[in-house]
Amino acid sequence: MAAPLPGKFITFEGGEGAGKSTQARALADDLRRTGLDVVVTREPGGTPGGEAIRTLLVEGDAGRWDPFTEALLHFAARREHVVRLIQPKLAAGSWVISDRFADSTVAYQGAGQGLDDASLTKLRSLVLGDFMPDLTLILDLPTEVGFRRIKASRPDSSRYERMGADFHERLRRRFLDIARQEPRRCVVVDAAATAEAVQAAIVAAVGQQLGVRWA
Ligand code: TMP
Repeated sequence: MAAPLPGKFITFEGGEGAGKSTQARALADDLRRTGLDVVVTREPGGTPGGEAIRTLLVEGDAGRWDPFTEALLHFAARREHVVRLIQPKLAAGSWVISDRFADSTVAYQGAGQGLDDASLTKLRSLVLGDFMPDLTLILDLPTEVGFRRIKASRPDSSRYERMGADFHERLRRRFLDIARQEPRRCVVVDAAATAEAVQAAIVAAVGQQLGVRWA
């Protein structure tokens, strides 16, 4: 196993409309106030190549890709992200916060699109080895609340938002299963609460799990 890197890697996961991006930025600001160097990034994306792949994934018809192809595209973008951005930043002592990471592939392409667990596990191990987030915050929200929030905030919808209520229910359950299976890495946060309450829960979790002493 590789030696631990000096920085910490935190991921935000969850369904649509859970407020991950807002909370990722708020956490970064809180961590910066303690004197840490913090990078906020996202998946799919985070590098020029990853952002180009993102366009292929979020635009077009819901059935545009075979689920395995789709998982390969996510992992191709992720490989670029980890090798060119995340690991170098962690090695330099920065903390990295990613809006989504590999759990999203397990939830969306696995539970959502029906790709089998064995293929997902093999792909992950081939692309990432044993590289894992230090902490994963799963923002959990009833599917219909997430959709209402998205509709209120923007008129256009992404490919994944068009995949139907059943799809989104399945991936919500899978995120909660992941949290149950990996309780040391994952913390579930009730994202239906106010933004301030969600932020406070996140600050408490990060303090407890990663030993941050808040400024
Ligand atoms: P975002 O809207 O949260 O920025 O993410 C873009 C979409 O990509 C979102 O609908 C979830 C989806 N996605 C997957 O299906 N699999 C993945 O591995 C990742 C990272 C995202």
